[in-house]
Amino acid sequence: MQRIIAIEGIDGSGKSTVSRALATYLIKRGHRVVLTHEPYNEGLIELLELTRWKDPVALSLLFSADRALHLREVLSKEADFYVFDRYYCSTVAYQGALGLDLAWLFSISSKFPRPWLTIILDLSVDTALKRLKNDTLAFSRKYESLRKVREVYLKIKDECNGVVVNAERPLEDVIADVISLVESRLSTS
Ligand code: TYD
Repeated sequence: MQRIIAIEGIDGSGKSTVSRALATYLIKRGHRVVLTHEPYNEGLIELLELTRWKDPVALSLLFSADRALHLREVLSKEADFYVFDRYYCSTVAYQGALGLDLAWLFSISSKFPRPWLTIILDLSVDTALKRLKNDTLAFSRKYESLRKVREVYLKIKDECNGVVVNAERPLEDVIADVISLVESRLSTS
């Protein structure tokens, strides 16, 4: 069975650290694991820049095309778990926060396998921004956009097969919770 575990959350939520720690844990437990992230293809960033990050429909379709190519490549590798640092709920949350219809965003994702589990790392935008380096957007713009993204993540939790984890705490506590969630899902599936 190909189990996709998606780690989601706003920028600065600690997704990359948590994804790495979860993959390391699962490998130590003897599972075969592929750790991966989206956006995936390097060429995509250039195309995204062409939209100046301003055209939500183009962004959604570009991220989704990237995802289709990514899945084809990554799922061809034999593994028990595929740990994704971002998956299609990122498109729904980020492009949904730009005002697109959430049902349309789920419909363009409907060909992608549903994640076995999505972990939504949830924290205040204040804490997230404090953790972020290399701030590219002006602070107030970033604050407002991440506030909306967070709101959409919480709204779409169930459709994403998601569990919300409080990521306001030290990362080792967050990682411990994520591992026990995965273990308890494993014991019931
Ligand atoms: P990412 O490389 O995950 O950045 P970070 O590690 O800082 O979270 O993603 C880059 C940006 O792309 C991030 O702001 C989220 C955004 N994004 C979308 O808007 N839609 C998507 O479908 C994906 C995968 C990412």
